[in-house]
Amino acid sequence: MDPVYRPGVIPEPPELSDGQVLLRSWTYCDLPCVEEASRDPVIPTGTTVPSPFSEQAGLAFLERQWQRSASGEGLSLAITEAGTDTAVGLVCLLHRQQPGVVGVGFWTVESRRRRGFARRGVSLLSRWALGLSAVARLEALVEPDNEGSIRVLEGAGFRREGLLQAYLDIHATRADALLYSLIGEDVDPSPR
Ligand SMILES: CC(C)(COP(=O)(O)OP(=O)(O)OC[C@H]1O[C@@H](n2cnc3c(N)ncnc32)[C@H](O)[C@@H]1OP(=O)(O)O)[C@@H](O)C(=O)NCCC(=O)NCCS
Repeated sequence: MDPVYRPGVIPEPPELSDGQVLLRSWTYCDLPCVEEASRDPVIPTGTTVPSPFSEQAGLAFLERQWQRSASGEGLSLAITEAGTDTAVGLVCLLHRQQPGVVGVGFWTVESRRRRGFARRGVSLLSRWALGLSAVARLEALVEPDNEGSIRVLEGAGFRREGLLQAYLDIHATRADALLYSLIGEDVDPSPR
């Protein structure tokens, strides 16, 4: 029988770690990570990370992440440094309109970049998600000049499928997007 794909069925994962990175639920202790992300020139433009930061806005951001599971919208986890439990970024899964298709989002704070946190976080969450019967396909949209994100996705095994012209609305102007995907057949169950 074909699996039934429907929103609201991404459960809280077990502890996901590769020894360097550990993915976990957001906690109130993660406000410094949100505060650093709020100062980034790019992160607040494509996310709900508040800018400017205030404690109240930061707490509301954390509550929105918890809500993503509760509402069935998807799942948002903190990317943390294994060993210190310090949050350095975010990786999330959000249901797309098409049943069984889930979008992947991610960012890391500037002070912790180029250490493999994003690639490891995306790789861990993607491989776990593709083991769920509700998830047939993961996809991500990237602006063509976002070299870092392209490297993250390709490093996590995503395939480039094509260029979507004038697909994104960024500050009221249209921008192209590269479409990347990952399906179960593409992945080795062990993360890189
Ligand atoms: C893009 C972003 C997530 C990368 O995070 P990161 O933690 O530095 O990524 P990683 O350390 O896992 O890097 C993975 C690879 O990309 C490379 N890379 C990272 N940033 C890069 C950049 N700006 N230019 C070129 N290569 C880059 C790394 O060197 C690494 O290469 P490797 O696979 O050969 O080792 C981070 O810069 C970010 O949050 N940017 C702003 C928000 C954003 O663009 N989010 C994604 C939206 S689709």
